[in-house]
Amino acid sequence: MAGLSIRDVGHVYDDGTRSLDGASLDLAAGEVVAVVGPSGCGKSTLLRIVAGLATPTTGAIDAPAARIGVVFQQPTLLPWRTVRRNVSLPLDLRGVRDDASVDAALHDVGLGDAHDKLPRQLSGGMQMRTAVARALVDRPELVLLDEPFAAVDEMLRERLNDLFLRLRDSRGFSAIFVTHSVAEAVFVSDKVAVMSPRPGRVAGVVDVPFGRTRQSDLRYAPEFARVCGRVSALVRTADA
Ligand SMILES: Nc1ncnc2c1ncn2[C@@H]1O[C@H](COP(=O)(O)OP(=O)(O)OP(=O)(O)O)[C@@H](O)[C@H]1O
Ligand SMILES: [Mg+2]
Repeated sequence: MAGLSIRDVGHVYDDGTRSLDGASLDLAAGEVVAVVGPSGCGKSTLLRIVAGLATPTTGAIDAPAARIGVVFQQPTLLPWRTVRRNVSLPLDLRGVRDDASVDAALHDVGLGDAHDKLPRQLSGGMQMRTAVARALVDRPELVLLDEPFAAVDEMLRERLNDLFLRLRDSRGFSAIFVTHSVAEAVFVSDKVAVMSPRPGRVAGVVDVPFGRTRQSDLRYAPEFARVCGRVSALVRTADA
């Protein structure tokens, strides 16, 4: 588990586009924060900075986690590798052979039986679960998810959100989960950070008071709707 502090981060692309300006966010060890905000406000840029794939122009990330797993919007699987060999990729790149960790990751996402299939033989949900297993195989302290389930239908997204919460519980990682869906943000997180339009900063944070164990039908509870309402109101204020 790892906490993280994003301190007043600004970022300017080479062409002069200011993507972030004074973005601050704290993440406690084991905490999941969801990030919502208008398209182009710098959510993906912020994740890339936390992942160490981009450098902030101003500000800093304090105590970045040693091991980070990333799940992108598309599964981005290698078509010629089996499920098992896609999942083992982060280990292969480090020159590590660890069949037990690959088996555990496949088991945890429910893909134990599909380990020798190729990506084209999988459903969309199985492809995303392969991408999640790949992000988890190296036992990351911090998992970054950039609209991971945006391309799947609503019913499947709910099942993948349930899976995410089970994995978070059993593996104990911290996570930053970017999404366009307010309901998804509230369901998967301990708090929701709402970003302002570009150049983005965190306009406000809404606490999600539901504890770690959540049943699917929480989505239809009045208190769930109330928290979603608070997030939506903040989105509207930040966008004004
Ligand atoms: N390589 C780049 N060069 C210049 N500008 C860029 C580059 N990548 C992104 N941008 C700009 O930076 C801003 C932030 O981009 P980013 O991808 O972080 O937004 P986002 O919040 O993830 O959007 P979305 O919700 O659509 O995924 C956008 O206005 C985008 O046009
Ligand atoms: Mg993005």
